[in-house]
Amino acid sequence: MSDTVEPVIVAIDGPSGTGKSSTSKAVAATLGLSYLDTGAQYRAITWWMISNGVDVNDRAAVATAAAKPVIVSGTDPAAPTITVDGADASGPIRTPEVTAKVSAVSAVPEVRTRVTELQRSIAAAADKGIVVEGRDIGTTVLPDADLKIFLTASPEARAARRSGELKGSDVTATRAALLKRDTADSSRTTSPLAKAADAVEVDTTDLTLQQVIECVVTLVEERRAGR
Ligand code: DC
Repeated sequence: MSDTVEPVIVAIDGPSGTGKSSTSKAVAATLGLSYLDTGAQYRAITWWMISNGVDVNDRAAVATAAAKPVIVSGTDPAAPTITVDGADASGPIRTPEVTAKVSAVSAVPEVRTRVTELQRSIAAAADKGIVVEGRDIGTTVLPDADLKIFLTASPEARAARRSGELKGSDVTATRAALLKRDTADSSRTTSPLAKAADAVEVDTTDLTLQQVIECVVTLVEERRAGR
């Protein structure tokens, strides 16, 4: 690939358990692009709120605190990082407590404005281009992305994958938690989880991860070739 190749912006949205993170990282690594996990940013703000005694159900308190945490994302797909006020947040943002509270925090408009600005500046700085994964990337954060993908999968497939990741946790409970979070993320007023009108929908239920990666890489290459 020559240095004259235009940067390409790829938005990958969808609910959890559809293979978004694994697909996004692998596509970015294959094509030599940067990678941004926007869910990690919302989780990082949520972790900061919990650590600083902010009641996540108090929207006014969350809104007031939204500008305080300093969130820095490392965008190498082989080793993505996230820090909050200089501290490594990669472990703490995956706890069940953060997972249970992140939808409430990410529904607050002041939080979304702050994180959206951060996401746009990271995308603009990626000279070779970037794969950005989330819920509202194609609709709100980067509406001019070169390629928008919306990943879906049946609730059963998603719960089974998540339970595997969480090392044997109960599939029924995982399914209920996933659906609860989807409902909250899809029904919030500010930039809900949604498929952009011009997004390509890929149902991953019966596909292997490798097949999904190949499908998205091909779509990016076709887009780059102007097809
Ligand atoms: O992708 P994830 O499960 O780590 O995301 C955690 C939460 O963050 C998710 O439940 C909703 C929120 N989120 C969001 O509102 N907008 C995004 N672009 C990404 C995540």
